[in-house]
Order: sequence, then structure tokens, then C-alpha cells
Amino acid sequence: MVKIRELVKTLNPYVPGRSIKEIAGKYDLNPDKIIKLGSNENPLGPSPKAIETLSKNLKYMNQYPETDLKDLTEAIASYSGVNPSQVILGGDGADEILDLLGKTLIDPGDEFIVPLPSYMYYEYILTINGGVPVYAQWDMPQNKVNVDSILKNLSPRTRIIFLCTPNNPTGGLINKKDIKTILDSTDALVVVDEAYFEYSGVNNVDLLNDHDNLFILRTFSKVMGLAGMRVGYGLSNPQFIQYMHRVKPAFSLTRLSQIAAVATLNDKDYIKTSIQLGIQSREYLYTELLNLSNLIVLKSKANYLLIDIRETGMNSKTLTKKLMEKGIIVRDCSSFLGLDDYWIRVNVGTIEDDKKFIEVLKEII
Ligand SMILES: Cc1ncc(COP(=O)(O)O)c(C=O)c1O
Repeated sequence: MVKIRELVKTLNPYVPGRSIKEIAGKYDLNPDKIIKLGSNENPLGPSPKAIETLSKNLKYMNQYPETDLKDLTEAIASYSGVNPSQVILGGDGADEILDLLGKTLIDPGDEFIVPLPSYMYYEYILTINGGVPVYAQWDMPQNKVNVDSILKNLSPRTRIIFLCTPNNPTGGLINKKDIKTILDSTDALVVVDEAYFEYSGVNNVDLLNDHDNLFILRTFSKVMGLAGMRVGYGLSNPQFIQYMHRVKPAFSLTRLSQIAAVATLNDKDYIKTSIQLGIQSREYLYTELLNLSNLIVLKSKANYLLIDIRETGMNSKTLTKKLMEKGIIVRDCSSFLGLDDYWIRVNVGTIEDDKKFIEVLKEII
């Protein structure tokens, strides 16, 4: 056997949401009938303009992508209200950007702070880069970040602080004042993860003007409907972005992903409809879930809802299995640090998907 790095031997694999193919095979279901509400994707499908442009460009698949990524960088800069020099793109989505942050900032033993529960990939990818997680707190009943728990964990080795807003999986927002307090208390990079910002109507781009240690992380996997194309981006000060370019793989963003992302940004109607449907569907689902007396649902500003199911007498593993047997995939949150075995996360679908989910859920609980 070849010699494996000791660090790699200690890593726990990342637990992603379940796929339609996997569940169709496991429970002998028709894949077309499965409703996937476990990965916070856009239920509308991709932008028709993206599909049309892609089909015209398939024949260029034999050519390497452009490396300067000019068209997409400029389109993102204009969408976000920043200068193109403030944009970096990731070819494995926002997850690649997280890896680049680790490569740019983390020496073995350096620390990063995550309020729990939050997006689990931070810890997964930064640990590979030699980072040491330091846990702060997300206050569950208020669905708010606990700022003091972050400030008191700052140390000379803190390199990154993760603030996810709206927070995955809880759906709560972090207010701008709290973000500013944290930015002003440290020289570490504060990563404000805005993967779902479009559903909340709030963003923090204005803070980039006064804070060199701010990094805003975003993705095309949610409102933009391109999770399968793997496009993410980050916004920060131009000097920091330049350092990140030094560690970025040259061709990680495929030719087709770039084209699809530009076409989607140009499809303003699609973006608007996706946001409207997401919000409408979230509020519908929230109200329906509130009516179920043995569930507690957290108010959310994203396209998913976190549900406490302990009063049903089932744990999340049992309940998600029963839902999957009936063709509905939701997220079992038992692998999320900071949550126990009694939480599920469901993303909003079309209103029709939501209705089906509620109908099946009522039968089970
Ligand atoms: C909060 C948050 N950040 C980042 C990502 C990564 O997105 P991408 O698909 O672009 O890698 C996700 C994906 O679910 C997420 O929920």
C-alpha cells in the first residue's frame, strides 16, 4: 500500500443530499415521479436561454475553455455591482472557491470559526487544507448568530470566519450590523456566504467598500438553476482576488458552464420568476407546516425550511426513509454538526411539489 497522508486517514467523507438515481434504484421507483427536495435546487429547471445557447455551443466541446473568463466575470460584476477585478470564479461551484480560500490562507494548525449548525462543506474542505475548526454558536430558538460566541473564539491563529446568510440549514439571516461588528473585530477573512441571498432580498456588497477582510461567496446552483454546471463566484478586494488566482486551477470552469452562466444572467425574466416562485412557495410551505401540530418549523429567508420532528416520535433517519419510499427526497440533518437526530430540511419545490410533500408527510406523521 502506498503511504497515505495521516490527515487524510482522519477525514470523514462529506455527506451530500441523495440523488434521484440512487433513490429510484434503492426503492424501485420511477425516477420521473420522484420529487427532490433535499439539495435546495431550483425546481423550475434551468433558464430556457441557457439551454438554447448550450445546444448551439455543444460542437465546441473539443476546445479548451478561455482562461481569462472575461464574459462571465464582467456579467457577474455587473449583476453584483462591483468591478470585474473584484470577482473570482469557481469551476466546482462555490465549493471550489472554498477550497481556494483554504489554499490561499491556511497553514497547518491555522483556525477557522464556524457557528453551528451551518454549511458542512466549510469544515470538510478546510480540514483537508490543514485548518482546525473552532465552533461558535447559532442560537436556534431565535434563529440568529451568536456574535459573542464568535468574538470570544478569535485567536492569533484565526484565519477565516464563516457567516452564512441566510444560514444553511436554519434559514435565518445575519444582520448587517453584526457582520460589521465581526469585520471590525479581526484581521481574519470574514466569508459571508450569500448562496441564497436572492431569496432574502438582502446582500452585503456595500460592505466591500470599507472592509478589505470581507469575502462574499455566491453560487449559480440555487436561484440560477445551474447546480449541475458547477459555477460559483466570490467577491472581494482586487489584491486578495489576485492571490487567489495564483492557486486556482487554470481550466476548472468548463466552456459550457461559462456559456450557461452568462446566458442565465442575461435572462432577467427567468431570475425574477425563480425568485418570486421560491418566495411564494416558501411562504405556502411554511404556513402548511405550521398547521401540523407535532412539527416545529423555523422561519426562513432562503428556499428551504428546517423542521424539528421530535414530537412525531420518529428520528430523522426513519422519517426521511419513509418519505423516500414514497418518492420524496428531503435532507436528513443528522450529519450536520450542531443538530441532533431530530431535524429534517426540505427545500421548496413548485407549489404542486409542496402539496404532494405535505400530503405524504401527513400520511406518515
Ligand atoms: C450555504 C452554501 N454555500 C455554498 C454552497 C455550494 O454551492 P455550489 O453548488 O456552488 O458548490 C452551498 C450548496 O448547497 C450552500 O448551501
